[in-house]
Amino acid sequence: MIIGVPAEVKNNENRIGLTPDSVKHLSGIGNEILVQDGAGTNIGFTNDLYINAGAKILKNAEEIYKSSEMIVKVKEPTPDEYRFLRSDLTLFTYLHLAGDPENAKKIIDTGVTGIAYETVTASDGSMPLLAPMSTIAGQLAFTVGSYHLLKFNKGKGVMIGHLENIEPRTVTVIGAGVAGTQSILKSVENKAFVQVVDSSEIKLNELRSTFGDENIKYILSTPESIRESISKSDLVIGSVYVVGKEAPKVVTKDMLSSMSPGTVMVDVSIDQGGCFETSKPTTHDNPTFIKDDIVHYCVTNMPGAVPLTATQALNKVTLPFIESLANKGISNALEEDEHLRNGLNIKDGLITHPGVKEALGS
Ligand SMILES: NC(=O)c1ccc[n+]([C@@H]2O[C@H](COP(=O)([O-])OP(=O)(O)OC[C@H]3O[C@@H](n4cnc5c(N)ncnc54)[C@H](O)[C@@H]3O)[C@@H](O)[C@H]2O)c1
Repeated sequence: MIIGVPAEVKNNENRIGLTPDSVKHLSGIGNEILVQDGAGTNIGFTNDLYINAGAKILKNAEEIYKSSEMIVKVKEPTPDEYRFLRSDLTLFTYLHLAGDPENAKKIIDTGVTGIAYETVTASDGSMPLLAPMSTIAGQLAFTVGSYHLLKFNKGKGVMIGHLENIEPRTVTVIGAGVAGTQSILKSVENKAFVQVVDSSEIKLNELRSTFGDENIKYILSTPESIRESISKSDLVIGSVYVVGKEAPKVVTKDMLSSMSPGTVMVDVSIDQGGCFETSKPTTHDNPTFIKDDIVHYCVTNMPGAVPLTATQALNKVTLPFIESLANKGISNALEEDEHLRNGLNIKDGLITHPGVKEALGS
């Protein structure tokens, strides 16, 4: 199969769909790999490394898309890229269609076959292609949250860390899945008082057996429990996810008045439309805005801050699926593997994934 790897174009996005090692593997088993000129340079993956791995370098995105049967990338296509999509092309990437209904329609209308990393499943019900990026985003959520609590960042001016005879600061994590668990871990390591809010009692019990009961509280998610928890918080991390769907708005606008000025809210779920009612997407260049005295951090591509780590982690999990799609052909690979088939979001102008269909109301 001819597989194209374009450069990412999102703000501060230096991840790339295939590492040179992945290219070597795929070209070694008979595939032709096309990489856009300079697409990996910013993380040390030079054209020469790709050429030595067996790839051919093409000069721009148009050529890559035109010459490929399947595109492997990282982030959802931006409006500048929609003109390259067509019905005999397969796109394997994060798509997050539910997070941006207006643009989703434009992508669907191109007729492209879209297989979304974030809805591919594993036999235990987990999301294996979302997990490594959620792991990174969850750790970064604590890091950026702490940083934006600094006074010169318009935060409260408090430190989440250990000091003799000083009460710990409070971190609330809403949605304690893969990302949330990493945020909890970081918060515990940094001696915060942690409030864990999730809609699943089973999940809360699992976390209790991991993190114990000291300096940590487990709370079943209801509007009342969320209002109560965030009113006492310095940092609120939102990382809820319902497969393929738009994120539920767990923190509503009216709840903000219960929080003290300078509280930081990190909306990890922003790529699925955001789980705070007041969130709107931001970029690494301009990551925060203030709404009702609360600092909002809503970067849609948080792992883009650590592109080398994130590219390596992503390739570890995507490569077996790419190999299957390339070697068996798209239809056969989807037919044979129900977990990969769960990744199919759109085909021939139609939405094929039930969660995405429900989210987009069609
Ligand atoms: N911003 C970024 O750069 C970035 C990067 C990676 C992942 N993400 C996003 O982070 C989100 C979380 O991903 P994940 O892999 O951790 O998901 P996950 O499925 O592992 O965890 C989601 C958790 O949310 C809980 N939940 C669902 N509805 C809830 C509600 N109403 N109240 C409380 N909890 C609720 C679930 O029980 C589950 O524990 C996803 O939207 C994902 O796309 C964003």
